[in-house]
Amino acid sequence: MTISVCIFDAYGTLFDVAAAARVAASEPGQEKLAAIWPKLAEDWRRKQLEYTWLRAVMRQHTDFWTVTQDGLDWALEAAGLSDPDLRERLLSLYWELAAYPEVPGMLQRLKAAGLQTAILSNGSPDMLAGAVRSAGIDDMLDDTLSVDSVGIFKPDASVYRLVTNRFDCTSDRVLFTSSNGWDAAAAAGFGFRTAWVNRAGQPMDRLPACPHHVLSDLTTIPDLATR
Ligand code: LAC
Repeated sequence: MTISVCIFDAYGTLFDVAAAARVAASEPGQEKLAAIWPKLAEDWRRKQLEYTWLRAVMRQHTDFWTVTQDGLDWALEAAGLSDPDLRERLLSLYWELAAYPEVPGMLQRLKAAGLQTAILSNGSPDMLAGAVRSAGIDDMLDDTLSVDSVGIFKPDASVYRLVTNRFDCTSDRVLFTSSNGWDAAAAAGFGFRTAWVNRAGQPMDRLPACPHHVLSDLTTIPDLATR
């Protein structure tokens, strides 16, 4: 089936989630953070995601900004870095994460090929709007879809259904791209064509479905979408 819609996960896929800790670590007076920032970034991300899954299972949804703060608080405490100014700085950087360098060119190629493009993310609409604006990719996206409208986090099927409802299409017309192996796997189970961007060379998640493509970055997405 021909692909007509290209959907992207946001955090870790279009936007570099490690950038907040990396940038803060390079600032004056942050010698302690500079020594451990990769571990802080990893703990922050892992706890943020764990809290989304746990809240989905517990049916206690909240917005992604809350779990982002909760994950950071856990990671800062684990690192012995419970400094309120640093916490505020890291959180403010999360609103202006850099996009990966290939993102604008890749989206431009998709638009030039006549494809529809959108984000599908756990992120709350205001967080996503901030990241899209600071990355300068507003004009290359037809929409930004947030789990807020269904009140449960990925990988609940109702989240992926937001795409087929919005674009009025069947799931096999959608190419879904995520850097999260579990997200790409769940989207494949839903019926999307899927690409997993595995920048870190991680093992495949052992889940009921597998992504169709495994990529090292986003550059070849237009080739997959148009072939
Ligand atoms: C998102 C997270 C899962 O953007 O990266 O939905």
